[in-house]
Amino acid sequence: MQHVLSARQFNQSEIADIFLMAERMESAMATAHGRRSMVKRHVGEVAATLFYEPSTRTRLSFESAAQRLGMGLVSTENAGEFSSAIKGETLEDSIRTVASYASAIIMRHKGEDSADRAAAVSDVPILNAGAGKGEHPTQALLDLYTINKEFDRTDGLHVVIGGDLRQGRTARSLAQLLSIYGNNSITFVSTPELQMGRDIIAHLEERGTKHQETDDMMAAIRDADVVYWTRLQKERLQEGEHDIQSDFTINQAALQVMPASAIILHPLPRNEEIELSVDHDPRAKYFDQVRNGLYIRMAILDKVLGGAE
Ligand code: NCD
Repeated sequence: MQHVLSARQFNQSEIADIFLMAERMESAMATAHGRRSMVKRHVGEVAATLFYEPSTRTRLSFESAAQRLGMGLVSTENAGEFSSAIKGETLEDSIRTVASYASAIIMRHKGEDSADRAAAVSDVPILNAGAGKGEHPTQALLDLYTINKEFDRTDGLHVVIGGDLRQGRTARSLAQLLSIYGNNSITFVSTPELQMGRDIIAHLEERGTKHQETDDMMAAIRDADVVYWTRLQKERLQEGEHDIQSDFTINQAALQVMPASAIILHPLPRNEEIELSVDHDPRAKYFDQVRNGLYIRMAILDKVLGGAE
C-alpha cells in the first residue's frame, strides 16, 4: 500500500490486516509498557500534516498516531493561509516541497481531486484526510472498525446513512467501503436536495450492493443495525442554497423506534442532528469512534511506512 486516496482502493484482506494492526495498537496503548514499545517503531520518520480545511479529530488523531509511533511531525493547520498557497503556489509544488521533508503526507483540501493530484507528484505516501465533497477514506475505515468491534462482522448489516449525503464525504466513503462486502444493505435518508451522489449509487449498483433512498427516517431506522448520522455541511452550500435544511434528528422518539441491538455512529462534529440526551443511550458509539480513530490511523501509518524494521 503506497497512498490512501479512496475507500474504493481496499480489498477485504487489506482491511482485515489494518483492523488486526489497529487491535494491536489498541492493546499497546492500554499499558505504559505497550506505549513505550510502540514509540520505538518508527523513530527517524517524519509525518507532515497539511490541512487546508478545518479539523479537530482527523488532524489531532493523525498527529497523535504519528507521535505514538515515534515519528517526528511537521504541520500546517491552516495551509490555505499559512502556507505558500496564499502566495499562489500550486498544490503540486507544495507537495513536492513537503515530500522532501517528510516520510508521509497527511492532507485535507477542498478539492475533490486534491489527493489524486498530490499522489501524482509525491515520492512519499499521501494519506487523504478529506478531499472536498469527495472522500474521507480513513474516517470510513475507523467507522467500519467500530462497526466490526460491535457486531464482529462487516457484512450482512443494514446500515442507514442519513443527513447531508450530497456534500458529506464520510458518508460517500463509508458506502463504498461497505460495498466491498457481499451482502450489506444500505438505506440513505435525506431530502431530495441532499441525496447521495449518483456516482456512488452507480458504484453500489455495479458492486451489487443492496441500497434504497428515502426521506422517511423513522421507517428506515426501525430495522437498522447501524444508524450513521451526519450534519448539514453548511459551509459547502452554494449561493442561494441557504434555506436548505437537513431536518432529520436522532432524538428520544427515534431511540424508541431503533432496535435495542443497533448502534448510532456520527463522524462528528455534530450540530443539532443528534440530541445531547442521546449521548447517554448505550447505543451511542460516536465517542468510541473518536478513540478508534487513533488506533486505525496508527495502523495506517504503520502500513504505509512498510511496518517496523
Ligand atoms: C468530517 C469531515 O471533516 O469530513 N469530520 C471528520 O473528519 N471526523 C465530517 C464533517 O465535517 O461534518
